[in-house]
Amino acid sequence: MTTRPLVDPGVLDDPARRAALDSSEHLRHLAGLGAQLRRGYAAGRDVERVPSGSDATAVVVCGMGGSGVAADVLRGLYANRVSVPIVASKGYGLPALAGRETIVVAVSFSGNTEETLSAYRDAVGRGCRVIAVSCGGTLADLAAADGVAHVHPRSDVPMPRMAIGDLSAAVVGALEAAGVLPSAEDEVGQAADVLDALAARVAPDRPAGDNVAKDLAVWIGARTPVVWGSEGLAEAPATRFRTQVNENAKSPALSAWLPELDHNEIEGWSSGAGAGYALVVLRHRLEHARIGDRLAATLSAIAPSGLEARELHAEGTRPFEVLFSLVLLADFAATYLALLRGVDPTPIPVLSSLKERLAR
Ligand code: F6R
Repeated sequence: MTTRPLVDPGVLDDPARRAALDSSEHLRHLAGLGAQLRRGYAAGRDVERVPSGSDATAVVVCGMGGSGVAADVLRGLYANRVSVPIVASKGYGLPALAGRETIVVAVSFSGNTEETLSAYRDAVGRGCRVIAVSCGGTLADLAAADGVAHVHPRSDVPMPRMAIGDLSAAVVGALEAAGVLPSAEDEVGQAADVLDALAARVAPDRPAGDNVAKDLAVWIGARTPVVWGSEGLAEAPATRFRTQVNENAKSPALSAWLPELDHNEIEGWSSGAGAGYALVVLRHRLEHARIGDRLAATLSAIAPSGLEARELHAEGTRPFEVLFSLVLLADFAATYLALLRGVDPTPIPVLSSLKERLAR
């Protein structure tokens, strides 16, 4: 088996070598997650022509990849706090339940993603109550022509996945303006402060040994990351960790969450199967009371696999703090992993060339 060669971990503490690899200042942008939450939330709440959602029977959030993650974030934050179902829709169409009493939020950073545009058109055609979120593109043009509410988060990042705070908070703000969600103002502000402080503790100038994100990346090293969350708040961050390893470190990764993985995945961790993998378990103070015991029993059950595990702990005690602090830690760790493996975290050449080919 060939593994991607590791570069010297010293790259993480060497500003010149970091800068040479990180051409778009990905790490600097990650530190702005708190600012993104404040900015995106304000943009969403100020949206004009917002449809009424106080009597809506469902919320469907459409989007792909780094924009579609806003749907997973929304579900994590609110699925157990509001009585309307929140559906994540990632593809060309809408679920059958979408109709005149459904709020549909179409999210695309570029505003040009074909699947999201298709879902948007479907929603307008069905008479759904539509909100569009984009930083311009065709989606903004269509919304203007259709008289549909459009949120433009004034994002300052070069790539959709780097705008997770802007996009997710814009969706929250707009759904609050529509009367679907209660005010998130205090929670957003508190979470943003927590994220600012956490970003300083995992920033590039904090050396390995005193930086949990760098240390996690070094520990993963050349192995394939396996990320486990638990139901609810840690589901989206587990998926996010996987996709950030894919797009930033240009490597495969796996993700799953407890307790579901106890009913399938653990059988795969048969004797010796853990070689070449590194398990990261996302933990937080709001997880279900059974998760601690269940995790211990699970790790004991799969011990013969040889899968090595480490825990990564969220900050805070409120849903926004917990979810977004796990996202911030995952994003920094995946980006440090990219530098360790000698790749620029920002460009996504395979994804970009596929999009160009399909657009022809
Ligand atoms: C790129 C990224 C992608 C895009 C996706 C959809 O950083 O994360 O997953 O988010 O291809 O594009 P947008 O977000 O422009 O709708």
